[in-house]
Amino acid sequence: MATFSRARETWNERYAGAEFLFGEAPNAFVERTAPRVLAAGRSVLCVADGEGRNSVWLAGRGLTVVAFDIADVAVAKARAYAARRGVEVDLRVCDMESFPFETTRVDAVVAIFIQFLAPADRERAFARMMASVRPGGVFLLEGYRPEQIAYGTGGPGVAENLYTREWVERTFAGWEIVAVDAYDAVLSEGRQHAGPSALIDVVARRPG
Ligand SMILES: C[S@@+](CC[C@H](N)C(=O)[O-])C[C@H]1O[C@@H](n2cnc3c(N)ncnc32)[C@H](O)[C@@H]1O
Repeated sequence: MATFSRARETWNERYAGAEFLFGEAPNAFVERTAPRVLAAGRSVLCVADGEGRNSVWLAGRGLTVVAFDIADVAVAKARAYAARRGVEVDLRVCDMESFPFETTRVDAVVAIFIQFLAPADRERAFARMMASVRPGGVFLLEGYRPEQIAYGTGGPGVAENLYTREWVERTFAGWEIVAVDAYDAVLSEGRQHAGPSALIDVVARRPG
């Protein structure tokens, strides 16, 4: 619990200003992928959604969106942003451990740069997130690859928290991996993700 309150404090400090740490625009992978795999009316869970750039954009496309983040400062900004955009998002202050994945069923989980999870906690967290996706639903994941450490342009700076293709294939074993793209790109997502970056994008579909 001490770890969680420290994480909340750290992230709240980062989110304290009026500016959006990762920008107001949706993440590019979400923007290009969601319209292909999610029709209006579908339900989405945005995990560790920060200031709401992705959840608000998805709600604006007619999706029913639940989102949570550990940082209450970020969630307050997300609520104000949703109001400003005239969309409804069920925005909650919650940490990964406490979120009720077990009783949540959605058509998609969207997890963008949630690499605060060390391997020891990550496997269980992914199992819980994946269990909340309905059969036939999708998981959209973007994160950094270990090569990102050399770029130093964003991310936790801890190689073991980053994703490799092998880890993706192991984690989503039994699911249809619709796409797994490892590539480098120049990010411009606020001041926090800026510059050349080593990325990996995953679209996986739960069988059924
Ligand atoms: C790199 S940011 C990404 C935010 C958002 N997904 C985006 O792409 O704009 C990571 C987010 O994880 C949140 N976070 C950190 N630890 C968490 C935890 N244990 N449970 C839930 N959220 C957490 C932080 O508050 C932060 O908003």
